[in-house]
Amino acid sequence: MQFSRSSLLALIPALVAAETTTVTVGKGGSLTFEPSTAMVPVGGTVEFKFFPMKHSVAQGAFDAPCKPLSADSFWSGGFATSDPAGNATTFSITVKDDKPIYYYCAFPGHCGQGMVGIINPPSDTSMGLEAYIANAMDKDTVASTKVQGGTVNKPGAASSSSAAGNSSSPTSSGSAAPSASGAGGYGSSPPATSSAVAASGASTSGSPVQWGIMVGLSAVGFAFGGLLI
Ligand SMILES: *[C@@H]1O[C@H](CO)[C@@H](O)[C@H](O)[C@H]1NC(C)=O
Ligand SMILES: *[C@@H]1O[C@H](CO)[C@@H](O)[C@H](O)[C@H]1NC(C)=O
Repeated sequence: MQFSRSSLLALIPALVAAETTTVTVGKGGSLTFEPSTAMVPVGGTVEFKFFPMKHSVAQGAFDAPCKPLSADSFWSGGFATSDPAGNATTFSITVKDDKPIYYYCAFPGHCGQGMVGIINPPSDTSMGLEAYIANAMDKDTVASTKVQGGTVNKPGAASSSSAAGNSSSPTSSGSAAPSASGAGGYGSSPPATSSAVAASGASTSGSPVQWGIMVGLSAVGFAFGGLLI
């Protein structure tokens, strides 16, 4: 009996594609993304989880920080929340290639205080996080205007499916996408409490560390599997 090596290898992308990396936005009141850099394989998902008070995530460029990369680049829309456990609604993007993805918080002033991050940072540190933060310092923040390039994941609702593509119009339910109206799309002040979110405050999704360990163990498993072939 002979296992095809390629059929085993074919399983690896499926495993990797299932990987979700969670990045917290403004957790603990800090103007940071955490982790601020992350290696995510092609096909992997990055889920942004928003903490008080008002934040968003927009794709930018290393050498032109704090403004949208292009008319098509992703933007989460403004997230306003007072829930210390973070807004239960998240925004996720799919990594389409292995190029660095530079991003920033498009809430006025935040990017200019260094609130930026990189998915798949280059090995060349001259284009790494420290340099990106330095570039961003004191830059005016230019807001995006269209929620696009990712998926707004509202708990309890049928998943809104802008998928990896652009989406100018919300799905038929409409409620899944945050309104882009108002100053920068952050809406009016959020309700003081939200029982719905409080009830689901304990997130069931794994922490990045847990995911890292799981993926790491899987990789080890595959490595051993490879030795046996
Ligand atoms: C989550 O963010 C959306 C978009 O800003 C907002 O409409 C909603 O009220 C927020 N939820 C909570 C519980 O803060
Ligand atoms: C999405 O982008 C494609 C090109 O990338 C364009 O042809 C299409 O009209 C866009 N759709 C929306 C809804 O913006």
